[in-house]
Amino acid sequence: MAAPASSTSSLLLVLVILLAAALISHSSANAWPASSSGSGGGGGGLSAGFYDETCPSAQDVVRRVIQDARVADPRIPASLIRLHFHDCFVNGCDASILLDEDLPSGIHTEKRVPANDNSARGFDVVDDIKCELDKACPGVVSCADILAIAAQVSVDLVGVNLFIEHLAGGPRWRVQLGRRDATATNIPSADNLPGFTDTLEDLVAKFDAVGLDHGDLVALQGAHTFGRAQCLFTRENCTAGQPDDALENLDPVTPDVFDNNYYGSLLRGTAKLPSDQVMLSDDPYAAATTAPFVRRFAGSQKSFFRSFAASMIKMGNISPLTGMDGQIRQNCRRINTYY
Ligand code: HEM
Ligand SMILES: *[C@@H]1O[C@H](CO)[C@@H](O)[C@H](O)[C@H]1NC(C)=O
Repeated sequence: MAAPASSTSSLLLVLVILLAAALISHSSANAWPASSSGSGGGGGGLSAGFYDETCPSAQDVVRRVIQDARVADPRIPASLIRLHFHDCFVNGCDASILLDEDLPSGIHTEKRVPANDNSARGFDVVDDIKCELDKACPGVVSCADILAIAAQVSVDLVGVNLFIEHLAGGPRWRVQLGRRDATATNIPSADNLPGFTDTLEDLVAKFDAVGLDHGDLVALQGAHTFGRAQCLFTRENCTAGQPDDALENLDPVTPDVFDNNYYGSLLRGTAKLPSDQVMLSDDPYAAATTAPFVRRFAGSQKSFFRSFAASMIKMGNISPLTGMDGQIRQNCRRINTYY
């Protein structure tokens, strides 16, 4: 018997309540690890408030540029977090991955090593972020910090999805800042980035070399909850005559949402990359190292989010340049030529 007007208003009321519930759980249900630098990693000198005085809008600027870029290219948040990973594993989080080939200054680019060539992407968006930051606070924010902020903002943007059941949002962390930019690259180290055909022993050793343990390895690979892979890298390996660079969703269940469904695929034995599935196999080494974490994260999204946030802080702390070391690059692709 409800008149149209009152049914409209009760629908509105339900919407308002749902929205309020979403906002409350978004702000309370997320891990906010203390602003310490986390264990290991040796990130002394970084702090969450590093730009509070000199560039208070830094995070907002980064968020705005990524929001815009995502409209044309929904994959951008995934591509950006991967850049931070490939930066941090090579000489620490120092933006070495962003440098272009430049023989006069002796720079060989890390962009051409196997793990990055035709694969690492998002460099134009980093340039756009740098450009917008230089309008807001010229010469202040390092390219290495841009990658760290972009990683955090990307996860935050993708985790929030009011239209499916993920009302709680994705993992959040206080990104630690104060990194400075390198004046060199390291090709041998970039050649040694974790690879899709690496054994579990290799992956564990490569993570251990930068102070990351079994739990960090499993949590951080959970970033494969979004983004794409060329079929050449997948376990199916381009069946049915696809071209090598045909794209597949890394998480076939919820391809653009940051959640723990990735670990469910591992339990079912349907993970995309060989380097994903090795974390859960019949191999006794997997049983003794990574498998318990896979099961834990598959069973609890909350546990995954907490661990992911803590491990991202740890990864972001890998040997940063701080203080007077390095420089604040004017152009993320080139070292400054004046001193
Ligand atoms: C453990 C070792 C890892 C290996 C061997 C690995 C390997 C790969 C490979 C082969 C791809 C597909 C690239 C392409 O098709 O061009 C990929 C994509 C991706 N990786 Fe990883 N990865 C690892 C760890 C990580 C970590 C630690 C993160 C972030 C914290 C990460 C984030 C991503 C994301 C988001 C994508 C999709 C990128 C896009 O769509 O542009 N990966 N990874
Ligand atoms: C797929 O096949 C190509 C060509 O044989 C090979 O180089 C590549 O490593 C294979 N990928 C996987 C995931 O096995």
